[in-house]
Parts: sequence; C-alpha cells; structure tokens
Amino acid sequence: MSTDETAAGALPFLERWTLRRRARLIAALRERVRFTSATRVLDLGGGVGVIAGAYAHGAAEVVVLEPDAARVAQGRRERPHLRFVAAGAERIPFPDDRFEAAVAMMSWHHFRDPDRALSEALRVVVPGGVLVVVDVERGSRRARWMEFVEGRLRGHRHRFTSEAEVAERAGAAGWEPRETHRFGDYFLLVLRRPGPREGGPAPARNGFTDGPGRTAVPVAGDRPCPIRTFAR
Ligand SMILES: C[S@@+](CC[C@H](N)C(=O)[O-])C[C@H]1O[C@@H](n2cnc3c(N)ncnc32)[C@H](O)[C@@H]1O
Repeated sequence: MSTDETAAGALPFLERWTLRRRARLIAALRERVRFTSATRVLDLGGGVGVIAGAYAHGAAEVVVLEPDAARVAQGRRERPHLRFVAAGAERIPFPDDRFEAAVAMMSWHHFRDPDRALSEALRVVVPGGVLVVVDVERGSRRARWMEFVEGRLRGHRHRFTSEAEVAERAGAAGWEPRETHRFGDYFLLVLRRPGPREGGPAPARNGFTDGPGRTAVPVAGDRPCPIRTFAR
C-alpha cells in the first residue's frame, strides 16, 4: 500500500480540508508507528478511508473496518488500494494476531461498547503490536461543540471520554498504555499489546520483536518529544 493520499492532490474539498486539519495528528501517528512493508494495519471506524489512506502509506496492508454500508461502498469505489470490511469495532471479523497495528482515529466516541472494542483489538493485534487511539478530550471546547452541532442538530450520539479514562479502560482490557500526546483538544494515546505470550515463541515477525533490551513496540518512545510516558 504505497499510495500517499496527502500527495494525491485530486481529493474533493471536504477531504482535503479534513486532511489539513488532521495533518499534525497524522504526522504524530507516523512518528510513533512505523508503517513498513511488513506492517498490517487495521483502521477501526475508518469511514471512507481518507485518513487511513493518508497515514498508512508504506504499510503492507490497510484494512478499514467501518459499520456504515454506504461509507464502505464509497470507500471501495474511491480507494481500491485499501480493503474495506463492513463491521463494528466490537466484533472484528478477523482471526487472532492478524495485524501489527490498529488505529482508532476519531471513532472511539462512536463505539457502542468501547471495552468490547478494546478486547477485540487486543485479540487481533500481535503481541508487541500497538493500538493508537486519537480522539477529542471529554469536556473540551471541541467536544462540547461537536456534541451540540452533531448531537443536537444532526441527532448523532457521541460518547467523549477523557484520555485518562481511555488509558485506564485499556489497561483493564489488557493493553499497556505507553505514551500520550496532546494537541489542543485532541489526544493521541499509544497502547501496546504485551508480549510475547507466556510459553509461546517471541513474535519475531515484521521487525516488532520482543527481547532483552529491545522494545517490542513500533513506537519511537525514546525520541525526545513533548509526550507523557506512562510508568511501567
Ligand atoms: C468521525 S468518523 C471518523 C472516520 C475516520 N476515522 C476519520 O478520522 O476521518 C467516525 C466513524 O466511526 C464509525 N463508527 C460508528 N460506530 C462504530 C463502531 N461501533 N465501530 C467502528 N466504527 C464505528 C462511523 O460510521 C464513522 O465512519
């Protein structure tokens, strides 16, 4: 999957605007997760694939999971280089250990059952792999604005959560919160699936290997940047 949509130049206005608004988040995500020819990515709640197409270029495979059938159809038409699967994050129709990375960009607040989504993501991501949650902080100006505009005027239901609560729930589900980054009202939270499995072989796949003195996470946690790292 080598197409970089940010360089495509031929996107409709709204999509270009979305990409411009999210440029910092996409850059931060790409700084923390290495999308290489060995990385299989699952985008949870990926809509029509605009954002996945922008951040995941270079990855071996990008699967966009999206429950809205119309968005899936549009995504398939417009982005044949991505794979679209019609499903919600609470029930991921893939076998265990299928992906190196999962991303939930602005979709967490839509999940009907976030705890179930966290467990499902943990199941399909390999030990040592990551889940990155990007969303709007509960109670922030943007959250209140979105609740008003999209909730009251359009009837959408949002469940914004604080970054601390997402980290806590992820920890309870078996994820290891690694670092968090704030961009105004947005947070970017990196979670790692602990690994390797007890008694099992080290996940030597795709460069994300566990081993003494090595990080199992495809995350640049040792790079100096304005982030908060979770105590381990
Ligand atoms: C605000 S859009 C974000 C789309 C894309 N990730 C982005 O950043 O532009 C939220 C998406 O989450 C999807 N969604 C709603 N409920 C979901 C669920 N239970 N599991 C996964 N995705 C869901 C919606 O259909 C929608 O496409």
